[in-house]
Amino acid sequence: MFNLVIFGAPGSGKGTQSEKLIDKYGLYHISTGQVLRDQIARKTPDGILADSYISKGHLIPDDLMVKILGDVLDSKKDLTAKGIVFDGFPRTIKQAEALRKMLDERGTGIHAVIGLDVDEDELIKRLLNRGKTSGRSDDNLDTIKERLNVYHNETSPLREYYSSLGCYHPIDGSGTVDDIFDRIANHVDKLK
Ligand code: AP5
Ligand code: MG
Repeated sequence: MFNLVIFGAPGSGKGTQSEKLIDKYGLYHISTGQVLRDQIARKTPDGILADSYISKGHLIPDDLMVKILGDVLDSKKDLTAKGIVFDGFPRTIKQAEALRKMLDERGTGIHAVIGLDVDEDELIKRLLNRGKTSGRSDDNLDTIKERLNVYHNETSPLREYYSSLGCYHPIDGSGTVDDIFDRIANHVDKLK
């Protein structure tokens, strides 16, 4: 298996580049944001709880998020996939440690973390633009600013965490979608 974390601030292109990664490398995509939005749409108890955090731009508590990810891993149907792209998970050191343990129990691990670097002005521009059509409760300026604060305070320390494990690969996340993907694929091809 080849398991990747696609990492970066809100709007850095994690979802966009994940789609291209699964196409090129035959990977299975797990977006925790999408898992939560599906649960909100189905009005499950976890979804109702998650909604109150997401619309404020706050993180879902670690214990709940780890439980949800464990359920997704257990129900993973695509057994032909050659690995997993984790998009939006982990977002805290506690989640990273839980992920390490969950993958270890399944006889695998994280092979690379691709970090997308994008200027804050560009992040805000992309998310406001997406907000015109996305219907996402968190694609508005106030919530975007809060998501960026949360990213700086709680999520960005993971760069150090994965750098110290020797698997963090920063990538320039600006330019066209295809140019960024070429940079990512160049890296991934060397690692596989
Ligand atoms: P999540 O859904 O993961 O949101 P996010 O991290 O805020 O990131 P986005 O999905 O907004 O952006 P992205 O990096 O995927 O960029 P995209 O490709 O869409 O999480 C939402 C919420 O759920 C969190 O705030 C939290 O509350 C909760 N949550 C989720 N996971 C959690 C966890 N592990 N723990 C706790 N809580 C959790 O691109 C953005 C836009 O830009 C798109 O419109 C795209 O078309 C456009 N675009 C992309 N690339 C380019 C480019 N190169 N040039 C121009 N436009 C571009
Ligand atoms: Mg996304």
